[in-house]
Amino acid sequence: MHEPASPSNGSRFVRACLRQPVDRTPVWFLRQAGRYMPEYMAVRKHHTLLEICRTPQVAAEVTITAAERLGVDAAIIFADLLLPFTPMGVDFEFVAGEGPQVHTPIRTLAQVQALRTDRVEELSYVARSIELVTKHFAAPRSDGDQLGIIGFCGAPFTLASYMIEGGSSRNYIETKKMMYSDRAAWLLLMEKLVQVLTGYAQQQVEAGADVIQVFDSWAGALSVPDYRAFCLAPTTELIHRIRNLGVPVIYFGVDTASLLPAMRETGADVLGLDWRTPLEEGWKAVGPGCAVQGNLDPITLFAPEDVLQMRVAEILEQAAGRPGHIFNLGHGIVPGTPVENVIRVVEWVKSFQLRS
Ligand code: CP3
Repeated sequence: MHEPASPSNGSRFVRACLRQPVDRTPVWFLRQAGRYMPEYMAVRKHHTLLEICRTPQVAAEVTITAAERLGVDAAIIFADLLLPFTPMGVDFEFVAGEGPQVHTPIRTLAQVQALRTDRVEELSYVARSIELVTKHFAAPRSDGDQLGIIGFCGAPFTLASYMIEGGSSRNYIETKKMMYSDRAAWLLLMEKLVQVLTGYAQQQVEAGADVIQVFDSWAGALSVPDYRAFCLAPTTELIHRIRNLGVPVIYFGVDTASLLPAMRETGADVLGLDWRTPLEEGWKAVGPGCAVQGNLDPITLFAPEDVLQMRVAEILEQAAGRPGHIFNLGHGIVPGTPVENVIRVVEWVKSFQLRS
């Protein structure tokens, strides 16, 4: 692994990704800029989700506002997993209350063959947003720490599932049908996604992203043998290529307790843990040579203060101050979450002292 050049090593978040010692546990949240936050909803009143993503000044503002309001140690660029579909020739929209909808789902080899991989530069608006965020956070904060800038992309399986199903799915029937019965189409789809995502991640790194998070949100739908047979190789290739750009990679999925040892084989620097597995067990499953991120149940943010504080402390006690823990949720903040509870969690993580 190439050590990222300074100044990002001046960031406790980046150091924790590399399992280097830190003065305290870094903290940020999945979906920290989202519909639970009034500032985001105010912007959203005037723009669609895609307009925000595609307008660097607005995307940067949303990213910066969330990070500053919460006082977290890292800012994740405001974008969406599905943005690379457009230059690949896959039209989609976000339908209120229903999530993403792909107009013509990709189901055949001929459709996969028609997917474009030569227009990645059309995604450069995300890199422009990252440049603005990087510039804004260029100076160290009052505690001397550099805020970490996180770029991201989807993992091949999770993105393929949206392309093939045409939207969110419960049983991933069409995706698994292609996996099981049309090997040529599946392999070509994986290859094309890896190619596009590598170029997209490269733009983000060149624009200033310190770390890339690869979201395999729906990998938990796969059995261990199917993950190994159909997804491990392309995901490993993607993560290998991103690490060769000189940044650490966080690899995140949900409902992944049984998949963690296989996910570890991708070579990711950090594995995101969902909340179902106690942090200590999850960390044991991935082994000591890998950092972990997580893993508070996002719905705990609706609990009374004493319960919430206890759950936060339990996670930090299980991490036990070992280098390589980044505090986060086990999945994204949901709409309706009280912002003040999110801020409280940040304050508790920052002031937490291990009992000796
Ligand atoms: O601070 C942040 O993390 C926000 C940036 C961000 C968004 N999407 C903006 C967004 C990130 C990191 C994503 C990633 C993303 N997009 C994932 C992986 C993360 C995860 O939760 O596992 C996925 C699966 C998607 C695809 C997607 N985008 C879905 C399924 C939906 C609908 C969800 C819903 O609850 O309606 C979106 C829409 C979306 N992307 C929203 C945001 C803030 C909410 C919708 C809106 O503002 O209209």
